Formats: sequence, C-alpha cells, structure tokens
Amino acid sequence: MNDEVARAVQLLLAGDVIGLPTETVYGLAADATQPQAVRRVFAIKGRPVGHPLILHLAEQSWLQQYCVGDLSRAQRLADAFWPGPLTLILPKNAALVPDEVTGGLPTVAVRVPAHPLAREVIFALGRPVAAPSANRFGAVSPTTRNHVVVDLGDQVPLVLEGGPCQIGIESTIVDLSRERAYLMRPGAISAAQLSAALGEPVQKNDGLGPKAPGTLESHYAPHARVLLVSAQELWSAVRSEKRSGHVGVLALSGDVPPPEFGLEVGALNARGLVQSERLAVYAVPGGMDDAAHELYAGLRALDEVGCSVIISPLPELDGIGLAVLDRLERAAAPRTA
Ligand code: TXA
Ligand code: MG
Repeated sequence: MNDEVARAVQLLLAGDVIGLPTETVYGLAADATQPQAVRRVFAIKGRPVGHPLILHLAEQSWLQQYCVGDLSRAQRLADAFWPGPLTLILPKNAALVPDEVTGGLPTVAVRVPAHPLAREVIFALGRPVAAPSANRFGAVSPTTRNHVVVDLGDQVPLVLEGGPCQIGIESTIVDLSRERAYLMRPGAISAAQLSAALGEPVQKNDGLGPKAPGTLESHYAPHARVLLVSAQELWSAVRSEKRSGHVGVLALSGDVPPPEFGLEVGALNARGLVQSERLAVYAVPGGMDDAAHELYAGLRALDEVGCSVIISPLPELDGIGLAVLDRLERAAAPRTA
C-alpha cells in the first residue's frame, strides 16, 4: 500500500471525509459504516439529508453482505458491467447499512467503481465508502482533483490524485428493487446495453415512474445561465445573446464559428478554451464520449472566465449523448435558489 492510500484509510477509519477519484466523477467519501462520518458528507456538501448516497464496494462479492432479497438480476448486471459506471438500487441489509446513507429508505444504491485507486482504498478499508459527487449541492460535478480542491479543499484533509476522470459524468442508475427494472439516471451504460444484459427491457424513466430522491430538475448548474439550442440555431443564438452579455459556447462535436466572431478556427481543433471579445468557446472536437468527458470541465471553464450565459447545441440523442443531454437539461432548468 502506498503512503497516500494508507493515509486515506487512516483518515476514513478516524471518521474523516476525503476526496476520492472514480472513473465517473470525483467522490466525497466517508466510511459508510460510521453514521457520524456520513453526516459530515452531507454537511460539507450542503446536501439535504433526505438525499441518499451511493455505497461504493470493492468487489461484486460484497453485494450479498449489504443487500438482501433476490439478487439474481443484480448479479447479471454486475457480471456484465462491474467494476464500472453502473449503480444498482436494491433492498438493503439494514443491519449493515446505516439510515444516514440511505436517507431512511429501505433500499440502498451500490456500485463497484472501476478506478484502481478507489478500489485500492476500499479494499484496504475493508468496508464500503458512501460517496456523492464531490461538489457543493446543486453545482457542477468535479472531474479533476483540482475541481475538488477549488470547491471543497478547505473542508477536507485529503483529496487523492487520480487524474482526469475517464468517463466524466455520473454512473447510470438502475432501480432493481421493484418488479420491473427502471432507469433512474442515464449514464455511459445505455438502456439498450442494460436490457440486453438483463434479458428484460429496462423501463425508461419517463417522469411517470418512480423518481430518485435528489434527482431535482435543477442540478449540475454553473453560475451562468445555460441555454440549449439546436445545432442549426447555435451561431444565431450566440449573435443575439452577445448583444447583452458575455457568451460562452460549449462547442460539441467540433462546431466551428463563422468568421464574423473573430476566433481562430485552427485552435478549435484542440480541446479547450478559445476567446475573443465577449465570446468564449470551449471546444470539444470529438464525439459524444468526448462531450461527456469534457462537459463539466467546459461548464467550469466558461464560468471562470465570467460568462453570463453558456450556450450549448443539443448533443446526439443516442447512447451516452442521452446522458449528456440529461445533464445539460438540468443545468439549463430554472433554478430554485
Ligand atoms: O458516478 C457516480 O454515481 C458518482 C461517483 C462518485 O460514484 N456518485 C454520484 O453520487 O453521482 P450522487 O450522490 O451525486 O448521486 C447519487 C444518486 C442521487 O440522485 C440519489 O437520489 C440516488 O443516487 N440514490 C441513492 N440511493 C438511492 C436509493 N436508495 N433509492 C433511489 N435513489 C437513490
Ligand atoms: Mg451529484
């Protein structure tokens, strides 16, 4: 065990909360078996206590310990996708999973993360960590160590360095606690992939089905207002918003601005920020995997340069593009606070 991992384990055992990289986003982790430590996660995040956390396991065999009931459907999905960006909701073993983790629900969300550092820490700890994304409640999720340090660095004693998150958006959540399987949050693993592995259709959550507590309309929101437009309308929307504000553009799939905006097109072939007067473009030249990978970094970068509005074209409505759309829609939803 290296020194950083040993220190992480020591802190977790002492009831401290740390920043932990996963392949989706960075998490704010506590020893899930210590109610006091779990309560600190809520306090640090500013998260209402009714919003349950995900239990992160070191390996699939831990499933039988922390969940109860018929686990055959869970095993099938776990065989196919763990370790990886998939969270399952199952009836919990109330003797081992404190109410603080689940907001008093009889079910618990579980996943085995794929990031080697996360698994090493959980293995060494010998029990699961409860971890939400390591951002302040309602704000943009972190996909680098630096994002966590900027948001919460003064409140946690350690944020482990795990590099930029490979996927960049939160795990797919499937509810297996009812008769039918429901997709509660889209992610990198699609409904079609899940249905194929499960051998039964996973019901899309069309808003009529059960709602995950804590999946509020407004979420993942930067400071700037977010505007979603069709790809064809993108540059005319930029033109009109630029009259009254500092405009940021999340240019998915290599959207290139017309020459009137004075941006160097060559620079847009690389990932990152390109600016001219009152316009900042965060270029994401690749496909939808790249869009997921860069989404939160892009929203953060455009916020940082002081954009009053961030405009994004709609992503492709397929595969991980649907998960990107879900996050963009929540970022664009009317804010409650
Ligand atoms: O990729 C991820 O899932 C990241 C990394 C850190 O693992 N975690 C994450 O956690 O996104 P968080 O807390 O930001 O989102 C967890 C979601 C919430 O929407 C919550 O409502 C739902 O999981 N959830 C947790 N337990 C649940 C339960 N028992 N029933 C229904 N929904 C639940
Ligand atoms: Mg979150």
